[in-house]
Amino acid sequence: MHECSKGFPFRMHNCYGKIRGEEIDMIKKIGVLTSGGDSPGMNAAIRAITRSAITQNVEVIGIYNGYKGLIEEDFIPLTRSSVSDIMVKGGTVLGSARLPEFKDNEIVKKAADILRKHGIEALVTIGGDGTYKGALALTAHGINCVGLPGTIDNDIASTDFTIGFDTALNTVIQAIDKLRDTSSSHHRCSVVEVMGNRCGDLAIYAGLSCGAEVIITPENGYDEVEVLNLVKYYEEVKKKKHAIVIISEKITDVELLANKISKSSGFSGRATVLGHVQRGGSPTAFDRVLATRMGDKAVEVLLNGELGQCIGILDNQIVSTDIETALNMPKKSRRPLFKLHERLV
Ligand code: F6P
Repeated sequence: MHECSKGFPFRMHNCYGKIRGEEIDMIKKIGVLTSGGDSPGMNAAIRAITRSAITQNVEVIGIYNGYKGLIEEDFIPLTRSSVSDIMVKGGTVLGSARLPEFKDNEIVKKAADILRKHGIEALVTIGGDGTYKGALALTAHGINCVGLPGTIDNDIASTDFTIGFDTALNTVIQAIDKLRDTSSSHHRCSVVEVMGNRCGDLAIYAGLSCGAEVIITPENGYDEVEVLNLVKYYEEVKKKKHAIVIISEKITDVELLANKISKSSGFSGRATVLGHVQRGGSPTAFDRVLATRMGDKAVEVLLNGELGQCIGILDNQIVSTDIETALNMPKKSRRPLFKLHERLV
């Protein structure tokens, strides 16, 4: 049995990989970091990456606070036991940060040198598209990175779902179900702003799940007069006891919209901004399983020496895609979901 497989007869792989046709020594140490906005399920991914790598005799170093912690050399070795019980926790045990300066080539070079100094040959980066850009830059500087989609926004085109989206969606749904109760009692229209950072998936999926009257996202556009007329129609013609308007963040001032609804319809309007509550909470089973499958795949991709990849789920298959290709992919249109909503509302 080869050195690499000792003690792990159930999980053998080649101890050498190939990069561009050249034989390379097997990776012995990898890093993992979480970057950008946190999302429920990141911890499940950290656990899977750590245990999958250790099972294959690869050391794992956790990097605190994303690329910021990398530059500050804020590292911690991860063990099988240090990642026990983290799967159920929301947020990220490694902490996260946004570091816009990571666009600077000199800073990326410094980060790559730091990783080499610590013997960290490859990195798993968990986050959104900003995190992917950092991973691509580091790969160009000789540290192979694999990206895992960790964001509540579901705004990465190379995957059907990102880690954290399902949990955030469930948080949104629970809040809207409660708002519906009180809106119904008081003949009100609730205008609910959800996150998404220019992606309307949280809004459209929540709208379908809650039977919202109006759904507004960056994709279907915003026409204030049309929204006011729709709400008036539901109150006067459809005789609804309440109405729910779900709107993606950064589209309009929801307080102003709610006031206008009060003036133009028989409903009294109330605005609710769900905000960062959407980012917290214990991950759903879906997110735990997704993060676990993706984390394991990330280690496989790194050990195979595949360069600059990101992991996704497409038609329930865990796949890897070139990061550059992923960043340039157009996001799938949600038109069919809007059409479905129109048929049912
Ligand atoms: O990308 C996740 C996200 O929660 C977006 O939905 C939102 O626009 C943004 O992060 C908020 O960022 P911050 O936590 O830095 O305020």
